[in-house]
Amino acid sequence: MPKDHGVQATQAGESVEELKIAAITALDSTESGEQLEAWRVGFLGRKGRLTGLLRGLGSLDIEHRKVVGAAANSLRGELEALYEERSKQSKSSQAPVGSIDITLPGRRPALGGLHPSTQMIREITQAFNEMGFQTIEGPEVELEKYNFDMLNIPANHPARDQWDTIWVDSDTHNDVLLRTHTSPMQARTMEANDPPIRVVVPGKCYRYESTDATHEWHFNQVEGLAVDEGITFADLKGTLYEFARRIFGSQRKVRFRCDFFPFVEPGVDMSIEWNGNWIEILGAGMVHPKVLENAGYDSTKYTGFAFGMGPERISMLRNEITDIRHFFSNDLRFLTQF
Ligand code: DAH
Repeated sequence: MPKDHGVQATQAGESVEELKIAAITALDSTESGEQLEAWRVGFLGRKGRLTGLLRGLGSLDIEHRKVVGAAANSLRGELEALYEERSKQSKSSQAPVGSIDITLPGRRPALGGLHPSTQMIREITQAFNEMGFQTIEGPEVELEKYNFDMLNIPANHPARDQWDTIWVDSDTHNDVLLRTHTSPMQARTMEANDPPIRVVVPGKCYRYESTDATHEWHFNQVEGLAVDEGITFADLKGTLYEFARRIFGSQRKVRFRCDFFPFVEPGVDMSIEWNGNWIEILGAGMVHPKVLENAGYDSTKYTGFAFGMGPERISMLRNEITDIRHFFSNDLRFLTQF
């Protein structure tokens, strides 16, 4: 064992100077609290390198023991001070004091969810998607032409009343409105595509009317349209029966009655039996020949059916909601129940 400067030799052959360099280099590369603790154990702990060096002093002669012992003790003081300093730094760099109280019990983060209208819309559109209908969307700010004219809704029809329609003020146009239904997408889809067509169109609609438990000034609708050669009223009934079966279950009774909508002929409404009553859930019919012609289709060659329904109303039925205004009042007590 070399014993040159008297401060060098230990039983492991490690000098105080070597140990100091090793300790400081290792300390510099610590990055976390755990690494710092491992460093403390490795150098200053009971089985650490400095303790090992001090234990080895016994094998030195008295003169060397004094010198090496003094150097080793002063290194201990130095390393302890460096350790203190480093551990303060690492604590303060982790988080500002007081920002996180790690003793607080955990709390569940609030999870968001889909709005009940969106959930219902997705369920409805999915039922039709599985029957071959494609989901598309259209503009909420619409032209009078699509909302009314092309759908065979004449100028004197009550739906055109200024009390039903929210018109958009414009210096250049007097024919812009917030769509009162999703039916304008029938006209737009036929205008832009050749048959066959099978689409469902969910989206918001707006009406200028006072609100009550069953009326809102804005609400959603899901429109449907199928046009092809040879489509009959039986296709309409079969498709809508299947829809009712998927949404309300296979035992649900369904009823069709005659109804009038300017853009279909014949027109019907469909009701389901609910607690002993018949509740109307949608309007439908065979696309009016004029509507086919307005879109440039040959009405002697093509036929089709259309339907329209309000997802909020369907959700109200299924979930026993008594006031449609809940859907849009943003009350979490309501929304979190879905
Ligand atoms: N657009 C109608 C409404 O808002 C609903 C409707 C009825 C749509 C019959 C249709 C239909 O496509 O065939 O009241």
